[in-house]
Amino acid sequence: MENNKKDVVVSGARPTGRLHLGNYWGTLKNWAELQHKYDCYFFVADWHALTTGADKSESLAANTREMVLDWLALGLDPAKCVFFRQSDVKEHAELALLLGMVTPISWLLRNPTFKDQLQELYKQKYKGQEDKMKKAEGVTRQLAEAHGEDAETTALHSDMAVIGFLGYPVLMAADILLYDATKVPIGKDQLPHLELTRDMVRRFNHVFGGQTLTEPEPLFTSSPVVPGIDGRKMSKSYGNTIALGEDAKSLEAKVKKMYTDPLKLKVDDKGHPEGCVVCAFHKLYNPEWKVQEDACRAGATGCGACKKLLIELMEKEIGGFRARRAEFAASVDVDKVLAEGAARARAVASKKMAAASKAAGLL
Ligand code: TRP
Repeated sequence: MENNKKDVVVSGARPTGRLHLGNYWGTLKNWAELQHKYDCYFFVADWHALTTGADKSESLAANTREMVLDWLALGLDPAKCVFFRQSDVKEHAELALLLGMVTPISWLLRNPTFKDQLQELYKQKYKGQEDKMKKAEGVTRQLAEAHGEDAETTALHSDMAVIGFLGYPVLMAADILLYDATKVPIGKDQLPHLELTRDMVRRFNHVFGGQTLTEPEPLFTSSPVVPGIDGRKMSKSYGNTIALGEDAKSLEAKVKKMYTDPLKLKVDDKGHPEGCVVCAFHKLYNPEWKVQEDACRAGATGCGACKKLLIELMEKEIGGFRARRAEFAASVDVDKVLAEGAARARAVASKKMAAASKAAGLL
């Protein structure tokens, strides 16, 4: 990747609580590097968090603060990038409203993320309650009957399918377009959203004339797979995460619990590193991971020793992170950091918003 200061990068993350190692290796490590190469705007997507979490609104403010402290401790530097809270810059909502005028509902209904996530949420909410639902009256009863047979229809007619959630990609497009982002660092799961953004740009520019909005490109950055301690993908909803600042004791307990090769029972059994969570983490935290794997394969080391070494290596990094985070927590006024970031973001966003309003005949 060449150094090109002209590219503008925008990315956001929903404040769902303390960040974990999956978030770090998958996203934030890249952000910290991108801030040195591009004009970067990183924001806490608190409105987006509400699209599926209106019932958990009481934790939004605290989660936002936690996330900002995590970002600072990771090296995101408000002097090198603009970072802010989405809801502080009202233009995000205003442009989303305008984009809604040129975004057919059919595009949003077709969005695979909407369909998948809605079904997932629906199943989670009503897990184990099928009987109770069957007894319920009216619409709920019909939904209960459809549940399981046609999960998509059921979910779509549930009270979880709110407009904000259907419109998630419209708000996300506004986030990106307000800053004329040329590159958006995303995982493959977010690609349909970015495609929708590009469709909205073309539609907006076509309907209202001119070249007001800029089509962004995805920026795929390579990131390693980070398994959770049980071997599935690391995810808060699986309860298998290790926090970025996990405390030493629980880090140790979690590494000890990590899933290992079930065929390696004794120290001198020959092991199979592929599929072993401890080995996956050695790859991330141990520059000598190959030596470790060879020893595992040859039956020259046991899982206990392998875990012990990993605990030491991880604690070194995670301990450093904890210390930096504690320093920021004690010395930084998070509200002030966010207010300054919002002011810088607004300066750019308000100009774009004025241009978009003008194009739409409003000004
Ligand atoms: N949808 C993104 C996610 O869940 C978060 C997000 C919101 C975002 N707005 C964005 C990412 C704009 C990139 C650009 O990860």
